[in-house]
Amino acid sequence: MLRSVALSNAAYLIAAVLFILSLRGLSSQVTARRGNLYGIIGMGIAIVATLTVSHLHLQPVLLGAIAVGAALGAVLAIRVGMTQMPELVALLHSFVGIAAVLVGYSLQLEADRLGGGMELKTHIEIYVDVFIGAVTFTGSVLAFLKLRGSVSGRPTLLPGRHFFNLAMAIGAVVFGVMYARDGQLWALAAGSGIACVLGVHLVAAIGGADMPVVVSMLNSYSGWTAAAAGFMLSNDLLIVTGALVGSSGAILSYIMCRAMNRSIWNVIFGGFGAEAPKPAAGGPAKPQGEVQDIDVGGLADKLLEAKSVVIVPGYGMAVARAQHAVRELTEILRGHGKEVRFAIHPVAGRLPGHMNVLLAEASVPYDIVLEMDEINGDLPSTDVVIVIGANDIVNPAAEDDPTSPIAGMPVLQVWKSKLVVVNKRSRATGYAGIDNPLFYKPVTRMLFGDARDAMEKVVTELRTR
Ligand code: TAP
Repeated sequence: MLRSVALSNAAYLIAAVLFILSLRGLSSQVTARRGNLYGIIGMGIAIVATLTVSHLHLQPVLLGAIAVGAALGAVLAIRVGMTQMPELVALLHSFVGIAAVLVGYSLQLEADRLGGGMELKTHIEIYVDVFIGAVTFTGSVLAFLKLRGSVSGRPTLLPGRHFFNLAMAIGAVVFGVMYARDGQLWALAAGSGIACVLGVHLVAAIGGADMPVVVSMLNSYSGWTAAAAGFMLSNDLLIVTGALVGSSGAILSYIMCRAMNRSIWNVIFGGFGAEAPKPAAGGPAKPQGEVQDIDVGGLADKLLEAKSVVIVPGYGMAVARAQHAVRELTEILRGHGKEVRFAIHPVAGRLPGHMNVLLAEASVPYDIVLEMDEINGDLPSTDVVIVIGANDIVNPAAEDDPTSPIAGMPVLQVWKSKLVVVNKRSRATGYAGIDNPLFYKPVTRMLFGDARDAMEKVVTELRTR
C-alpha cells in the first residue's frame, strides 16, 4: 500500500510538471505543438496512475463510462470545425461543472447512507465545489447556446440586477453556513439552486463582442471547481491541475479584458457597471455614403504599386479556409520586394489565437505576424491594407460612436492607411451585429466575394503580371 501511494504520488508529480511545461509551451506558436504533446503525456500518466496505482476499485460500469466518454470526445474533436471551437469549449466547461456537482452530491449521499457524519472541513469543501460547479454548469450551457446562436447573443440587463446578485450571494452564504453546520441535504440543494440561477444570470448579462472573455472566465471557474473537487477527494493532482486551469483562465480573461478595454469586474459580476447603450442626442452615428467596389484586377494593380501591405485576417478567412491562398499571396508580394505584414487583433475570429493558428498552419512566417499594438502605429504609413473576412475588429465606431455596443474596444485603425480593401461576401454585420462605417469611408474599397475564392483569383492575377 505504502509503495503504491509513493508510486502514485511520483506519477502525479511528473504529470503536474508536464502540465506546467504544457502551459509554457502553449504560450508561443513556435512551441505550441510541443506544449500540446506535454499535456497529452501528462494526462495519460495521470489517468493510468489513477486507474492502476491508486487504491481505486475498477468496476465494469466505470470502465464502460470511460470508454464511451473517450469515444464521444474523440468524435467531437475530429468533427469540430475551428470556427465552432468556442462552442465546444463552453460545452466541455459545462461537463466539468456538472461532474463537480455530481461528485459533491455523491459524497454527501454516501455519508447519509452510511449514517456517519462528516467533518466541518469536508462540508465546506463539498459546498464550495458544488456551488462553483453549478455556476460553471449553467453559465457554460448558456454561453454554448449564445455562441451557437440558439439564443440571442445580446446582453440581458435586468433592472435591479445588482440587488438580485447581492440577494443571491447572501442566500448562498446563509445556506452554506447551514449546510456546513449540520450537513443537511436540503441546504446543499438550496445553495446549488441559487448557483444555477446565478450562472445563467451572470452570463445572460454579457453579450456580443464580450463573449470571448466570458468563455475564458468560465474556463477559469471550471479550474477552481476541479481544485475544490481535489480538496474534497484528497487528490493532489486534481488540486494542482485545477489551480493551473483556474489561474491561467483568470490571467487570460484579464489580458482579454485589457485588450478590449473592458472591466474584469464587469465580466465577473455579470455586467456590473455596464449600461445598455443609450442613444446619443440626434441618434447613433449612421454610416454615411455609398460603398465603392474594387475588382481583382484593380486590387492587383494597387498591390503592385504599393511598397507596404498589411493583411488583417478575421473570422471570414477562417470560414472560407483562405489562409493557404493568403500565404501564396504573401509569397508573391514579398517576391516583388513588398513589405508584407499581418495585423492580428486579440479577439479576431472566434477563439484566442484563432488567426495565429490558421496562419501557422499555412506556414506564414511568425516574424511578419504582429499584434494590434505593434502595428497600429504603422498603419498611417501603409500603402494598402487588405481586410479579409474581418468586421468588428476594424470598426471605427468603437472609437467614434460612444453609443456603439463596442464603444471603447481597441480596434485596428485600418482607415488611417492610404487604401483599405475589405474582402467579404456582402455588407452583412459581424459577430457584434452592428453596421461598420469603415465600408463607407472614402479610403475604402469593397472586394465582394468568398475570401478563398477572391484570394485565389488575386494570386492567379498576380502570377500573370
Ligand atoms: P466578425 O466581426 O464576426 O466578422 C466576420 C465577417 O466575415 C462577417 O462580417 C462576414 O461578412 C465575413 N465572412 C463570413 N464568411 C465569409 C467568407 N466565406 N468569405 C469572406 N468573408 C466572410 O469577425 P472579426 O472581425 O474577426 O471579429 C471577431 C468577433 O467575434 C468580435 O466581435 C469578437 O468579440 C467575437 N468573438 C471573438 C472570439 C475570440 S476569442 N476571438 C470568440 C467569440 C466571439 P459577410 O457575411 O458579408 O461575408
